[in-house]
Amino acid sequence: MIAWREAMSVGSPALDADHKRLIELVNLTEEWGSRDSWPQVGAVIDDLMVYVREHFQREEAVMAAIRFPELEAHRKRHEALAARARLLNDKFRAAANDGERKTCCLVLTKVLNEWLLDHILKQDMKFKPLIPKKPQPAAHHAPELQVGLPQQTEAELAAERKARKEARDKDVEYELPPNLAHLLKRIEYVVPEMPPPEKEFDSFEKLCAAAVCRRVDKVLIFFQRHNPALNLELPPFFLASAEFADKFRQAIGKFIFPMIWESRQVRMLATNFDWAAQDAESFWEHINRQLEQSILQGWTQGWDELRLIEVKKDGQKVLQVKDNTKALREMLQPSSPSAYDLPRIGNREIDVFQSLLDPANDWWETLNRAWRICHDLYEQEKEPRIFQQKAREGAFRDGLLSAFNRFPPEWVDFLVLACHRVFPRVSTSFLEGFATNLGRNEAEREAHIPYTIRYLRQARTNPDIFDRERLEEQEWQAQMKELSDYLAHREPKA
Ligand SMILES: [Fe+2]
Ligand SMILES: [Fe+2]
Repeated sequence: MIAWREAMSVGSPALDADHKRLIELVNLTEEWGSRDSWPQVGAVIDDLMVYVREHFQREEAVMAAIRFPELEAHRKRHEALAARARLLNDKFRAAANDGERKTCCLVLTKVLNEWLLDHILKQDMKFKPLIPKKPQPAAHHAPELQVGLPQQTEAELAAERKARKEARDKDVEYELPPNLAHLLKRIEYVVPEMPPPEKEFDSFEKLCAAAVCRRVDKVLIFFQRHNPALNLELPPFFLASAEFADKFRQAIGKFIFPMIWESRQVRMLATNFDWAAQDAESFWEHINRQLEQSILQGWTQGWDELRLIEVKKDGQKVLQVKDNTKALREMLQPSSPSAYDLPRIGNREIDVFQSLLDPANDWWETLNRAWRICHDLYEQEKEPRIFQQKAREGAFRDGLLSAFNRFPPEWVDFLVLACHRVFPRVSTSFLEGFATNLGRNEAEREAHIPYTIRYLRQARTNPDIFDRERLEEQEWQAQMKELSDYLAHREPKA
């Protein structure tokens, strides 16, 4: 598996975005391959082949526009890889059994990994000096919205993206009558992007604070994905709310940073660190292990200080809440009950807050990779679009369960709830069924997924949810019946 690094930037945000996506697809192929999930490997390779072709076209257009003298030689290298990849893909398709499939998949990912690294770092890098430097775009723009070419305006790029999306939507082996056509559309939802890292700090403290907040934001922003087309009656869970993220940053500033600065160790190590050249992202790559550990220590202690303590009162155990914790509760209150749902902050919530920073781990990529798998499995099992590679029943649930192993246990809940906020068919009744995998009774389940159980308890008392989901289910079944009738009687495509 490879990860994209700043050193791989070829100076064009659009091409960098392409390279990131290619790396992601190769990593996905490897990941599915390692689990012997062959239909999924096949689906990802399909995407990969299309994407490689599109990327090469885009890159060659850029090279032509900047009059890169080695364009022809570069084009040949592209052609050679495309041909090799096609050959390996054909072999994979022709494989007679899983053993052969595994071998093909291993060779393909090895070739692509080596090629990508070598090609980006050595060949693509050659045209980097010719790419005109653009002024920094506004922070709220997603990377792919940034201008990749002097000639291409944002409107042109948007048109290109639209055309690509339409081509993707069309790439199915059957057509549907107008009343069913929407069933072929890929699911769409809002995925907030990380803004570019802040830079040019005038003190170590400010840089360090921004770097800590950025790490935490990566987790919070990941969980902010949602599907505006779903009319959910209950407020989102706290981690999914942008308002909560703002308040949480303030809370870190008030309760946690003072703890980190108090540490003599941090102050001492900071003096040896050349911070002026770093930004909120590169900070973590450049600090040494000791400084990393000291920051984490301050972070952990800061949260520990806010924990409720068990004391004996009249022979009974009670939890004592410190004034600071009361202030934290006050600070993190939503502006209105519909903004987000946060239980009264206790030690479980402190555990969640504490889990949000891991100096040794940038969770962004891992989270997004796990999400991609869940998304694919959801489409393959629950959506009709990909009939050809239909996943077996329960594949989505299993994918979700296995995604859990990769993250802090506190986040399991939030992944499940994020799926609920994005995928129409992950209803509360799906969640009820899902929860039964995680314990024999409600108490056991609550120990694993407290926030999902909390959500379900609220949902159970809300008849609107039950009515809506029942109607949606009926509608879905009717459409599926119509679709399967249509497919059974359709004429072969000319
Ligand atoms: Fe490239
Ligand atoms: Fe290239």
